[in-house]
Amino acid sequence: MQEEKIVFTRSSSETQKFAEKLAPFLRAGDIISLTGDLGAGKTYFTQGLARGLGIDEKITSPTFTLIKEYSNINGVSLFHFDVYRLKSLQEMLDIGYDEYFFGDGVTVVEWGDKITPLISDEFLEIELKRLSDENTRKIKIITHGRRWEKAVKNWLKESQKSLRTGIDTLLD
Ligand SMILES: Nc1ncnc2c1ncn2[C@@H]1O[C@H](COP(=O)(O)OP(=O)(O)O)[C@@H](O)[C@H]1O
Ligand SMILES: [Mg+2]
Repeated sequence: MQEEKIVFTRSSSETQKFAEKLAPFLRAGDIISLTGDLGAGKTYFTQGLARGLGIDEKITSPTFTLIKEYSNINGVSLFHFDVYRLKSLQEMLDIGYDEYFFGDGVTVVEWGDKITPLISDEFLEIELKRLSDENTRKIKIITHGRRWEKAVKNWLKESQKSLRTGIDTLLD
C-alpha cells in the first residue's frame, strides 16, 4: 500500500520547518529514507526534524562516519545515516545497522535508496528534487506500509495550518 503526496518549499528554512512538523508524529523504530541528488536538501530536512525532536546539536551529514547518533533531554534518539559513500551492504552489517533500525529511536537515512534491501516494508520515503528555481524543492512523500498513512495526513495538515506561505500541498 503506497500513497504519494507532493509539497513544494521555497527556501531551505521552509524545508526545515516542514520537516520539524513531522517530529510529533514519529515514534521509536520509525525509518525515514531520504533520496535526491547532492544539494537536494536531505541534510536540511534532517536538521528540521532534529529540531522538532528537541535536539539542539548541529546536524551535519555523517558522510564519512555513516551514522551519527543524537538524543534530546528526554532521551529520545535520532540515528542519522548518510550512506552516500557506502560500497557494500556488508558495511552496514559490520557497523551493526540493525541495532539502530530496530532500536529505540527514529532513523533517518540520506541516500536510503542505496540500502533498500535492508529497510523493512514499513518506512517513509521522502524524495527531494531541485527545480530550475534554485531555492525551490519538490518534495515527494511516499508512504510504505499502513503505519504511515495517518502520520503523513496529520503532518500535512499541521504544515498547512502553521506555514503561512510558500507551501503548496496537494491534499485530498
Ligand atoms: N527549498 C530548499 N530546501 C532545502 N535546501 C535548499 C532549498 N533551497 C536552497 N537550498 C540549499 O540547498 C542546499 C541543500 O543542502 P543539503 O541539505 O546539505 O543537501 P543534501 O544533504 O541533499 O546533499 C543548501 O545549500 C540549501 O541552502
Ligand atoms: Mg546531506
